Amino acid sequence: AFNLKGRSYLKILDFSQREMLYLLDLARDLKRAKYSGSEQPVLNGKNICLIFEKTSTRTRCAFEVAAHDQGAHITYLDPSGSQIGHKESMKDTARVLGRMFDGIEFRGSGQKMVEELAEFSGVPIYNGLTDDWHPTQMLADMLTMVEHADKPRTQISYAYLGDARSNMGHSLMMLGAIMGCDVRIVAPKENWPTEDLIKTAQETADTYGARLTITEDVAEGTKGVDFIHTDVWVSMGEPADVWETRIKLLTPYQVNMDVMKGTGNPNVKFMHCLPAFHNRDTKVGEDIFQKFGISEMEVTEEVFESHMNVAFEQAENRMHTIKAILVATLGN
Ligand code: CP
Ligand code: NVA
Repeated sequence: AFNLKGRSYLKILDFSQREMLYLLDLARDLKRAKYSGSEQPVLNGKNICLIFEKTSTRTRCAFEVAAHDQGAHITYLDPSGSQIGHKESMKDTARVLGRMFDGIEFRGSGQKMVEELAEFSGVPIYNGLTDDWHPTQMLADMLTMVEHADKPRTQISYAYLGDARSNMGHSLMMLGAIMGCDVRIVAPKENWPTEDLIKTAQETADTYGARLTITEDVAEGTKGVDFIHTDVWVSMGEPADVWETRIKLLTPYQVNMDVMKGTGNPNVKFMHCLPAFHNRDTKVGEDIFQKFGISEMEVTEEVFESHMNVAFEQAENRMHTIKAILVATLGN
């Protein structure tokens, strides 16, 4: 009944609720098939291009493994490995790659870039993260929440704490709205999504019977939730000098045991799209920890290493959900 063939995925609202539910079902089927060794490849002979202007572990590997499992071939263009941006415009690049590939993933800063790619390539384009949106991540996040919540999707509640004027803040706000969840964006006003985006999210929430809360108050925003999400306080591509203000602004929104317990839900789970800054001893982000004399950032080691953390299931689900997108938009 559903035909998503030829469709692109550039921002969260590109698919309707029913189309997203279909993709989630398909992802579950593909996950089961892979686990039981009965997966049927439907992307034989397809060529998929992966363009990364920013680095990646999960998104790249998810696309590569998903394509490989389904019989497709991939070409990876790394942040410096092509003419894009310095020697050739996106419009020209789109017209070239569209003649060679069946589908193209793009990760970079500008939402405009991925939209231009879709406009001029003539093939499905997948947004693998821009400054505005992280659409493929949202299917994985929803699948993970559905798998871990002992209740129907429309009864799921979650809070996102931290930098909400960002790809993940925007995306999780819109995801909850379109999926009919109880979604709370918990952040200092300075880091709220723009008024325009909040308005669109509220309209979407009204359409789908979702409850949307935007608040500065951690206790109010996290009360009774099933999931607490966070993300890094400074995203890829942002200038290093924003760290100082961000740390000051967002420290009250750190996900620690008090926040997890404060939900009042003994089964509350922690989620993070990853990569995470959570332990200065791993040397990851060591310079920032040292420079600002702090030992923890968006999530404490105690929460991250606890049984509450489902971020690695979430990471695995990137692959199953990206596979569903590829199968649905390119499959034979
Ligand atoms: N969550 C996510 O997009 O991770 P990568 O940056 O490793 O792709
Ligand atoms: N907000 C983060 C997400 C990384 C997956 C960033 O853009 O760097």
